[in-house]
Amino acid sequence: YSVLVKPQLEDCPILVTNMAERRLLVLFGSQTGTAQDTAERIGREAKRRHFRCRVEALDSYLVAQLIQELLVVFVCATTGQGDPPDNMKNFWRFIFRKNLPPASLCQMDYAVLGLGDSSYPKFNFVAKKLHKRLQQLGASPILPVALGDDQHDLGLDAVVDPWLLDLWGRILPLYPLPPGLGIIGPDVLLPSKFTLHFLEEHSSGCDGGQSRQEAARQAPSELRPFAAQMVSNQRVTAESHFQDVRLIEFDVTGSGIEYRAGDVLMVQPRNAPEDVQQFCQLLRLDPERCFVLKPSEPGTPLPAHLPQPCTIQHLVACYLDISCVPRRSFFELLSWFSPNELEREKLQEFSSAQGQEELCSYCSRPRRTTLEVLCDFPHTACAVPVDYLLDIIPRIQPRAFSIASSMLALPNRLQILLAVVQYKTRLSKPRRGLCSTWLASLNPQQGDVRVPLWVKRGGMKFPAEPDTPIIMIGPGTGVAPFRAAIQERVAHGRKENYLFFGCRQKSKDFYCGAEWQELVKSGHLTLFTAFSRDQEEKIYVQHRIRENKGLVWDLLSRGNAHIYLAGNAKQMPAAVAEALKSMLQLEGDLSPSEAEEYLTALERSHRFQMETWS
Ligand code: 2AM
Repeated sequence: YSVLVKPQLEDCPILVTNMAERRLLVLFGSQTGTAQDTAERIGREAKRRHFRCRVEALDSYLVAQLIQELLVVFVCATTGQGDPPDNMKNFWRFIFRKNLPPASLCQMDYAVLGLGDSSYPKFNFVAKKLHKRLQQLGASPILPVALGDDQHDLGLDAVVDPWLLDLWGRILPLYPLPPGLGIIGPDVLLPSKFTLHFLEEHSSGCDGGQSRQEAARQAPSELRPFAAQMVSNQRVTAESHFQDVRLIEFDVTGSGIEYRAGDVLMVQPRNAPEDVQQFCQLLRLDPERCFVLKPSEPGTPLPAHLPQPCTIQHLVACYLDISCVPRRSFFELLSWFSPNELEREKLQEFSSAQGQEELCSYCSRPRRTTLEVLCDFPHTACAVPVDYLLDIIPRIQPRAFSIASSMLALPNRLQILLAVVQYKTRLSKPRRGLCSTWLASLNPQQGDVRVPLWVKRGGMKFPAEPDTPIIMIGPGTGVAPFRAAIQERVAHGRKENYLFFGCRQKSKDFYCGAEWQELVKSGHLTLFTAFSRDQEEKIYVQHRIRENKGLVWDLLSRGNAHIYLAGNAKQMPAAVAEALKSMLQLEGDLSPSEAEEYLTALERSHRFQMETWS
């Protein structure tokens, strides 16, 4: 490394010819796979520009090496309440250490691409904060931070595409293409990331999964989920209600799983058997065949979530996300393999910059799935080389659910409240959420039903002090973590529990209603309900907060209460915050700005915590 010189515009020619030094590192923090997908796209574009490029999750990267890197692109999502994704949490802690010398990254040029959703309060917080911190540590930004927004009509690409053009526009003058070499054009297919080497034996020799004993010996995690038995799956909304909500219970005996209120259950879903079968037929794959994966470039790590050896059946059922809405890069790669002119032209159009509006109305707006797209391009589907499957289709991401029970009330058991995701678009078949549809379809009465899962620490923490009252605001399935907290606190004999619950109709979706009534009777719970559709005018949880402002103020100001809010991220959190501010003004005699500050101070001291989702 001692020979490396940070390239400046004037000394570029010295570095141009040395291919070994044309190195670009792309580091990502990704929760749902989008940031990873974008990072990989940058990696492909870098290879087309003759860079030696590594694409890695931030927490897989040896962070001490950062001081030697000359050129780094960070692609970071923001999750929840401005939190970094799970696979960059260690990096996040490291980079904000107080004892890092201020100039430790002064050799580094970098760019930060943020991926976020402007319907959440702390839009792209991680990217913005990282951008600032890298500058504090002496690194030089080659571009302003980009703030991709999922809410944009054209999706994240509306920001990502122009930003990438700018990025190469900045990088190439610093690292000009080696003499005689041009950008490798779209007419050249890059090699697949992996190759599949088929084994002689069929699936009997490789079950495509690790042994249960091995899983049982270690704490369950993403890489080693526990195959928990589902013991009940009960619909808790009336059959006539528009929404199917389930109370699902798992037996976690022997798993080593321990959890407390606020923790989150992670579930690794799988594709429906009929979808797996259809996919294999379309691509002419034999599900029974067994393979091992080899990386095309030495040093590329193998996918950690795929067992080796593995069957095609396991790969398609448990790994390839054939029900996701495909991204632009999918169409780009697919067009390569199309033997049919009409299909190829259409695919090329969808992958071109001009075709994005059309792609959006064909795919993203109606939420058309990868499998459905493949059905529309049958000549292409059967020509996709098996080696490219892992390049064109992303991995199925695990799904998170707030745990709705307490180990103190239900030892060795774990419950979740699951809203089955189903909605209509202009396509004739209703859209269904992969994980919720799969879980809801399982029937524990018909044999041994197993679900791969693990538990993750959640963001919500409930007070350890026995006398601290808690005010919980949880309309709909937002009530799940509060059911866990109430069960836990009741087990400890704590009575100061205040719950604001909202649903549409008392007779249809007042789930856990009987349970709440029991606790009210025994003096463990004070309950406020808002049945939005049981009368002419809408009544929501925020109305009940306004009505009970005196009590809420008293609990906050005299009882040192903690407030918790969970549920759908659309308008509810902002409306509840408004109700709380109005309470502070009317009861606490605060000005609007003082009320705002009071709420912010509560948030900072973790006395006001939120968990919202869309
Ligand atoms: P609605 O569907 O009748 O509008 C759980 O989903 C409950 O949250 C339902 O009663 C729903 O009412 C209500 N809800 C919808 N929008 C809301 C908002 N902006 N604030 C609070 N509650 C809301």
